[in-house]
Amino acid sequence: MNQNKRILSGIQPTGNLHLGNYLGAINNFVLLQKDFECFFMLADMHAITVNHDPEILKENILDTAAAFLASGIDAKNNTIFIQSAVGAHAELAWIFNCIARIGWLNRMTQFKEKAGSNKEKASIGLYTYPVLMAADILLYKATHVPVGEDQKQHLELCRDIAIKFNNDFNKKDFFTTPEPIIPEDISRVMSLRNGTQKMSKSEESDLSRINLTDDADLIIKKIQKAKTDSEPISQNIITGRDRPEARNLVNIFSALNNKKAKEIVEQWDGKVFSDFKKELSSLLVEKICPIGKEIQKLKLNKDFLQKVLEDGKNKANIVANKNLKEIKEIVGLSK
Ligand code: TRP
Repeated sequence: MNQNKRILSGIQPTGNLHLGNYLGAINNFVLLQKDFECFFMLADMHAITVNHDPEILKENILDTAAAFLASGIDAKNNTIFIQSAVGAHAELAWIFNCIARIGWLNRMTQFKEKAGSNKEKASIGLYTYPVLMAADILLYKATHVPVGEDQKQHLELCRDIAIKFNNDFNKKDFFTTPEPIIPEDISRVMSLRNGTQKMSKSEESDLSRINLTDDADLIIKKIQKAKTDSEPISQNIITGRDRPEARNLVNIFSALNNKKAKEIVEQWDGKVFSDFKKELSSLLVEKICPIGKEIQKLKLNKDFLQKVLEDGKNKANIVANKNLKEIKEIVGLSK
């Protein structure tokens, strides 16, 4: 493992994790842990930027930690931790609030989407969310950040903050600008009912998503009922834009197989979706059911999960506090 290559990534702790969380984030973490030193964070401070229930948040943190472990993240060689357990994140976010410009934040499309039509009523935390995210990343001097397509703009902001910090304080190369790692075909898993909408735990119909804890029968039923179109499988699924549901199923298949979508389409060219769906279901059952069972087992063992998070907190604090100390020194804040 190359010690100069360090990953930090985070996901907001949500209960009921689904295939979108798995293929869009967790599975990539699993693959990347071989080549990088990794810090995987449960972003609970990001989660409170919108209304939330404190008890549910606590539950969700444990659920997400269980999903990380059940999916194969090795907590011994990597660091799994809760964001709020490392106070340095909030401290650095404040410093970066003084580096980032209002004009930069005003360009963030995710804020506009999340705040909706009533921006005046959005929390200031939601507005400054990307600044906290920059603090998460730069606190560990991460070189690479695996994220979904929707977080790309936030990562660009993080790079701008790193560059401005280095310039403002005349510390060339203090922060390196981290590179995003964005999965090619599967940066978004879409709803099984509507291929233009992201798979989400808040969509009303449970048929729209595969939850990591769904059993085999339910997975088979959901894939059977998944929306497609009447055409057979062909290249136009990935070259065109008008078969979003078909494309989504092909993307899911390819991600589970670790193959390119193009290869899958070549392999299935001219075939009908009913056969493809059968094979997709068995692939899902093979990959997802063992994870679901392990999640349920781990959730019964809260002491173990808490111990993993406690170890992670200690490891993360060592790196974070060392870097924060240097940063405060540079900025002129007392220790
Ligand atoms: N904002 C990210 C999301 O919702 C989660 C996140 C928080 C994150 N801090 C991060 C991702 C730092 C990468 C790096 O998906």
